[in-house]
Amino acid sequence: MPQQTSRAGQSGDFPPFAQRHLISIADLQQHEIVDLLDRAERMIAVSRQERKSLPTLSGKTQINLFFEPSTRTQSSFEIAGKRLGALVVNMSVKTSSVSKGETLVDTAATLNAMRPDVLVVRHSAAGAVELLSQKVGCAVINAGDGAHEHPTQALLDALTIRNHKGRLAGLTVAICGDIANSRVARSNLLLLGALNVRTRVIAPRTLLPAGIENLATEVFTDMEEGLKGVDVVMMLRLQHERANGKMIPSVREYYRFYGLDEARLAHAKPDAIVMHPGPMNRGVEIDPAIADGPRSVITDQVEMGVAVRMAVLDALLPTRNPA
Ligand code: NCD
Repeated sequence: MPQQTSRAGQSGDFPPFAQRHLISIADLQQHEIVDLLDRAERMIAVSRQERKSLPTLSGKTQINLFFEPSTRTQSSFEIAGKRLGALVVNMSVKTSSVSKGETLVDTAATLNAMRPDVLVVRHSAAGAVELLSQKVGCAVINAGDGAHEHPTQALLDALTIRNHKGRLAGLTVAICGDIANSRVARSNLLLLGALNVRTRVIAPRTLLPAGIENLATEVFTDMEEGLKGVDVVMMLRLQHERANGKMIPSVREYYRFYGLDEARLAHAKPDAIVMHPGPMNRGVEIDPAIADGPRSVITDQVEMGVAVRMAVLDALLPTRNPA
């Protein structure tokens, strides 16, 4: 299939989006991914205006339901909804592991009765967001479910890369670190693969998921080898909360072999960019000098995050009766 690289103009009118929910990148066709990136392009422009608003979601209710702590993702979704004129309600839910399943379904029924138009859900259990989407009558967006998927993160990463490199197809992206526990890695591998981007994963064996060899990605356990000639270096946070048991000898040891510093980055292309979804463990997976350096696009990722979430809300909640 030829790569679609269209970039819609500022006033681009988009065809109706066929999906009801956004649970997984695996559910999206290539053209739907490109459509969301193009919609997001328009939202970047809106967010850079003095009046950062569109009336698209006026009269709609968005509930952010976070069963796991989050600052950047939750506020990004909140700002996105508000820039489009929605009424946004934030709910942070603490659950004991015993009552988790029960709480989820009960909460879904309660929230459904409040007639929201969209639920943005983060949960520590893989599959929980999909389950919830089956219990409610509105659109559901997955803001991260366990080690499964984080689709808007992969979309914002792709948008960041496309804007820095002018294209996606044909590039090589290295995803480094805690691949086994990372929903960001999973969603990125699916999305980048769908857009004909070559991917590599670089990690110690203990942080690679079983069966990784069967995915369409190259696997490296040596950082220098893996970084050779790449266009994009995507660092991941060590997911202490998801790693059951010690997967690395020590944090110092990890940094020595897998931390991104100037010497290692020199193996990538001279114009390679450095990404990180945040929150960063400075000095664990990345040297602060790199994180704050000229090749880091980490704050751009945050800006693209708002645009992508606006695009997803806009796509899933079309205005059916335009005035
Ligand atoms: C990521 C997440 O929560 O999955 N962070 C984020 O969305 N800002 C990555 C991470 O936690 O390391």
